[in-house]
Amino acid sequence: MNTVFENIYLRRSVRAYKPNDVPDDIVRELIKAGTYAPYSPYPTRDQPRRFVVIKNREMIDRLSERAKKLWLDAGTSSGPESKLPENLMKALKMPEFNIFYKAPVLILMFAMPDTHTSHEYDCAAAAENMLIAARSLGIGSCWIGFGMPLGSNQNTLAELDVPEGYRLMVPLIFGYPVKDSETPPPRDADVIFKWVP
Ligand SMILES: Cc1cc2nc3c(=O)[nH]c(=O)nc-3n(C[C@H](O)[C@H](O)[C@H](O)COP(=O)(O)O)c2cc1C
Repeated sequence: MNTVFENIYLRRSVRAYKPNDVPDDIVRELIKAGTYAPYSPYPTRDQPRRFVVIKNREMIDRLSERAKKLWLDAGTSSGPESKLPENLMKALKMPEFNIFYKAPVLILMFAMPDTHTSHEYDCAAAAENMLIAARSLGIGSCWIGFGMPLGSNQNTLAELDVPEGYRLMVPLIFGYPVKDSETPPPRDADVIFKWVP
């Protein structure tokens, strides 16, 4: 099979990582692959994606604990986060649960300050490029939505030197998988509403 299709079809979210470092030049290449994703020409031709790379074990673990606390605090309020399903809330309450699965690399992707939803699409497209590129190099990855509350936490933004107004869009982890991923479950085949020949 064409290797692009192979990497698309065999990519899986990886949730167990070896502690081995992912070399910096490879991390930079993954980010570069992200920046080659399409981006909206409207309303301006900004390339809105900005990245924070964290390879520091202590910091990644600390951010995991902070994100868990933010979720749990929000879960006891009436905010939208309180609608997290019970099984996810249960996981967040487990002291041993690390939302970043002890991955050696955490990349936080931010969008430039703006109100346009196109920046969200741009970041999502960049993220998928990075996940597929990683798979092609034997590197595992996972998109970590659990990390999102960090984007509205001023301490985190200050600690990471994120400029004013930038919005966290996608937290991603990378590392070498402990084991080969299982073959993905088949995706729904019946997804085409209409085909006009
Ligand atoms: C927006 C988004 C948020 C996600 N958040 C998490 C997360 O916080 N933790 C996690 O383990 N997986 C997370 N995932 C991974 C999904 O669970 C996974 O992609 C999905 O179950 C399909 O499995 P696959 O990636 O192995 O094909 C997220 C995926 C997306 C697209």
